[in-house]
Amino acid sequence: MELIEQLQWRYATKRMNGEKVPKEKLEKILGAIQLSPSSMGFQPYTIYVIENPETKNEIFQKAAKQPQITESSHLIVFAAWTNPSLENVDTYMQLIADERSVTLESLAPFRNKIAAELQNKSSEELVNWTAKQAYIALGTGVAAAALEKIDATPMEGFDSNALDEVLGLKQKGLKSVVLLALGYRNLETDPLVSAKKVRRPKEELFVTI
Ligand SMILES: Cc1cc2nc3c(=O)[nH]c(=O)nc-3n(C[C@H](O)[C@H](O)[C@H](O)COP(=O)(O)O)c2cc1C
Repeated sequence: MELIEQLQWRYATKRMNGEKVPKEKLEKILGAIQLSPSSMGFQPYTIYVIENPETKNEIFQKAAKQPQITESSHLIVFAAWTNPSLENVDTYMQLIADERSVTLESLAPFRNKIAAELQNKSSEELVNWTAKQAYIALGTGVAAAALEKIDATPMEGFDSNALDEVLGLKQKGLKSVVLLALGYRNLETDPLVSAKKVRRPKEELFVTI
């Protein structure tokens, strides 16, 4: 299976070589992220694709100066919605109505279900929930990048509040939760370039009942 082979090939790259990922490959990775599943299909996150070297450098300063940030081709910032609103729900309902040619009235039970989910959660629970959805999109992006033979480093090692300030996320109702650096491994400087992959054995990881 090609996906397994490519998941063997990929690793969380520590040093990249600054080479640009071609637009069509980037579009495929972003397309896969767009197609990622999310709870109720709500996609409660906004994704920033950062190419600008100065912005990358500002984020680098807030991310323990991890070199793959400035050496990446593109840095993806997954920002969870901190306070998804009924307006967001209605926008989503309108999208379904348009895409599937159904009436808004027929979607009312679904709308009310999502609205109730949002209303039953505290602010902390809401952002935990939206962040979880963003992580699923991250996983899809990691797998898609591997299939395109693009290196990708998922990253949590950053100061989220400081990064939010760099991108002005708080005032937009967003919270940065995880990053994905995309680019090409640097064969000369990456200490992990030929490290064997380490995973817990399947017998321990899976319980079949
Ligand atoms: C949510 C998440 C956060 C991570 N944060 C960082 C990070 O900040 N910096 C880094 O170099 N690697 C980071 N990693 C990479 C992991 O260390 C790496 O995936 C793990 O050691 C397994 O190795 P592999 O992905 O190379 O197979 C992160 C991975 C995930 C999934």
